[in-house]
Amino acid sequence: MCGIIGVVGKADVVPSLIEGLKRLEYRGYDSAGIATLVNDSIERRRSEGKIARLEEKVAGNGIHGDIGIGHTRWATHGVPNERNAHPHATDRVALVHNGIIENYRELAAELSALGHVFASETDSEIAAHLITRYLNEGMTPQQAVATAIKRMDGAYALAILFKGEHDLIVGARKGSPLAVGWGEGEMYLGSDALALSPFARRISYLEEGDWVEISRAGAIFHDEQDRVVDRPAKPTALSGAMIGKGNYPHFMLKEIYEQPGVIGDTLRSMWNPASGAIDLPPLDIDLAAISRITLVACGTSYLGAMVAKYWFEKVARIAADIDIASEFRYRDTPLEADGLAIFISQSGETIDTLAALRHAKEAGQKTIAIVNVPESTMAREADAVLPTLAGPEIGVASTKAFTCQLVLLACLVIATARARGAISGAEEARLSNAIAEVPSRAAEVLNGDEAIQALAAEVAEARDVLYIGRNTGYPIALEGALKLKEISYIHAEGYAAGELKHGPIALIDDTVPVIVVAPSDALFEKTFSNMQEVMARGGKVIFMSDAKGCAHIGKEAFATIELPHVHPFVAPILYAIPVQLLAYHVAVIKGTDVDQPRNLAKSVTVE
Ligand code: AGP
Repeated sequence: MCGIIGVVGKADVVPSLIEGLKRLEYRGYDSAGIATLVNDSIERRRSEGKIARLEEKVAGNGIHGDIGIGHTRWATHGVPNERNAHPHATDRVALVHNGIIENYRELAAELSALGHVFASETDSEIAAHLITRYLNEGMTPQQAVATAIKRMDGAYALAILFKGEHDLIVGARKGSPLAVGWGEGEMYLGSDALALSPFARRISYLEEGDWVEISRAGAIFHDEQDRVVDRPAKPTALSGAMIGKGNYPHFMLKEIYEQPGVIGDTLRSMWNPASGAIDLPPLDIDLAAISRITLVACGTSYLGAMVAKYWFEKVARIAADIDIASEFRYRDTPLEADGLAIFISQSGETIDTLAALRHAKEAGQKTIAIVNVPESTMAREADAVLPTLAGPEIGVASTKAFTCQLVLLACLVIATARARGAISGAEEARLSNAIAEVPSRAAEVLNGDEAIQALAAEVAEARDVLYIGRNTGYPIALEGALKLKEISYIHAEGYAAGELKHGPIALIDDTVPVIVVAPSDALFEKTFSNMQEVMARGGKVIFMSDAKGCAHIGKEAFATIELPHVHPFVAPILYAIPVQLLAYHVAVIKGTDVDQPRNLAKSVTVE
């Protein structure tokens, strides 16, 4: 998961390269670099760390040029230092790469035997030498790239600069996204439309196996058989305005607070104001005819799938399987005819989820992609798309996209239940009204942020933290643990509350905070009992419930977080917010990089 950019410009391209890299930084921020052509030489500036470090280096040690490439890195091979930073170069090319070249060792041996010497520990540098080899054999830049990429196994998005070629950048794509931005007498390459939005109003997307040659005159696309093909330029919906943090100290807090608004936006896209009922956009999928549902995703999006499993089975009365994307396709599970496979992804680019989508399509499943980036690869490849309208999510920890995924899934469940005749009109109205209340209830939860912030200090001191919940509270317990882990670096685990007695309770002592997700629903008493087992062993219980639930516990718990009472159906959407806020405030106390936590990236486009 790196970000790449290329510009064939009319003037100095360095400012555009830096601007584009800043928009790609959420894809990885271990190191960064740019390269330009200056007269007859390739100039490079690279630095360890974030774009800001590169910017300082570039400012202090001028680099210019009207054609260039740039890269921001999430290390896969080779430690994140300047030597391993992209662009990688030979005497004839400079190259930036997003992906993994799985057969790079074999290629390196072959090139070494031809006298090539490598300066880094990366797989990407091998691609630069492979292309150079073919140039040295007399091929044109286009032929050299077309030949080299056919020898590379794995995934790549590439942008290549050629010494002496002041009006040509060649790009290529397999497994990692790459887009072309159309400017006025300037052309761009980038990992996604967000990076290109300040410069280009029209975007084309390379398909799998494509390569492209861009010049100031435009772009020529080639498919994997090197045939010239058309990849239409479409207007991009993304604004060129730099997404800022506003008055918030971090993107994550801004995005947590945007939830009432964007949940409402997503809901309105699934709602018919005239009938006051849920009304999905046309899917061209007969929800009454599907035999089984499979939900596949990664990380937080997988936990959304987990909540939806409970909903599909309870409300729509249809069996639903869930799977982590990286396990799904290798498990090679038999998929029922007339099955529907749903893929959930904020970025729409997560390589494991994308590969799982392709696997399901090959197996004849109908596919729906629930994505937050309507121009993403998953959106383009699924049979149907249901876009969450959370707006660009920059914080690496997913928050608003998650609750928008849940709202959208809740609407899809009700539409499926209706199509299958599994729900009465009265029950549908009850559930739909509960969903309609979520935006205002979410705002109420945010009003209670101070109480959550006050608890953060207790949790920040812990070495281990447990989260427990039942039914749809269980995935939210898992989500709370994931949020805390990924931004505060504190070890945390989520468990089904009923599982505590089967091992995890051994972890409990008075140093272990236990966050209990316990809306007052049919299972409240069971969860309450589990909480008492924790307290009997000295565990510090932070009890999340509504007024009725908190009254039930009184002063027994270490602390309570009172949330608005909602219909149990929508409780997981609401209870996601306090666990987000708790993780955020703990991370601020710990002083970690909340928006760009160590070792992570926003979009995982490598397996
Ligand atoms: C969530 O906070 C994490 N950043 C991560 O688990 C994320 O949900 C996962 O990588 C999936 O990303 P996607 O939704 O873009 O596919």
